[in-house]
Amino acid sequence: MIQSERHIYPSYDQFVSRHNKEWLLQQRSRVIWLTGLSGSGKTTIAKGVERVLYEMGHLTMILDGDNVRAGINSNLGFSPEDRAENIRRIAETAKLFVQNGVVTICSFVSPTHAIRQVAADIIGAKDFIEVYINTPLELCEKRDVKGLYAKARKGEIPDFTGISAPFEPPQRPALEIQTQGRHVEDSIKQLLDYIVPLVQHDGSK
Ligand code: ADX
Repeated sequence: MIQSERHIYPSYDQFVSRHNKEWLLQQRSRVIWLTGLSGSGKTTIAKGVERVLYEMGHLTMILDGDNVRAGINSNLGFSPEDRAENIRRIAETAKLFVQNGVVTICSFVSPTHAIRQVAADIIGAKDFIEVYINTPLELCEKRDVKGLYAKARKGEIPDFTGISAPFEPPQRPALEIQTQGRHVEDSIKQLLDYIVPLVQHDGSK
């Protein structure tokens, strides 16, 4: 159904544009999209990057799987359909933040090419920076910070990514961070080295 048939007329012209907001905040907004297995270190890296960006004077927003699923997406599970809806809503939310000039860090398993493509299409290729947090399944499972892998192995959690549901590694991410054998601060630095130049404002109005 087209939007006019539903009597919905979205207006996208803003009194204060994204350009103005970016100038106000002295930053270029982007969506940093972290994808990887549960327990791969996405949340830790997101928080570490946010801390440094804050210290540099940047306004950021973290959208994270467990938090979003505890709130706005609390009605969604882990079937392929629910994961797709989870990511669709998150991408729409991230788009609102990026239009408001905010550097937005999304931290979601987002396990399939198709699901990440939906996010990229909603956010727009120019603003969507895909970062693959590459931690081998064996390591995620060994760490098992939340105890979920053990439960998944026992069959207590159906459709668990990496165990009973697929994870398709990105083929051409903007950046790949291999965490195995590295200190987390190195991973944080690798991501910062990549994104800091992208969010720098040149001061022009
Ligand atoms: S996504 O696949 O829809 O992108 P999302 O990032 O929001 O997943 O949520 C993943 C988090 O939910 C994991 O870090 C884990 O803590 C929890 N979780 C609970 N059940 C599952 C499951 N079946 N598969 C993956 N993660 C799960």
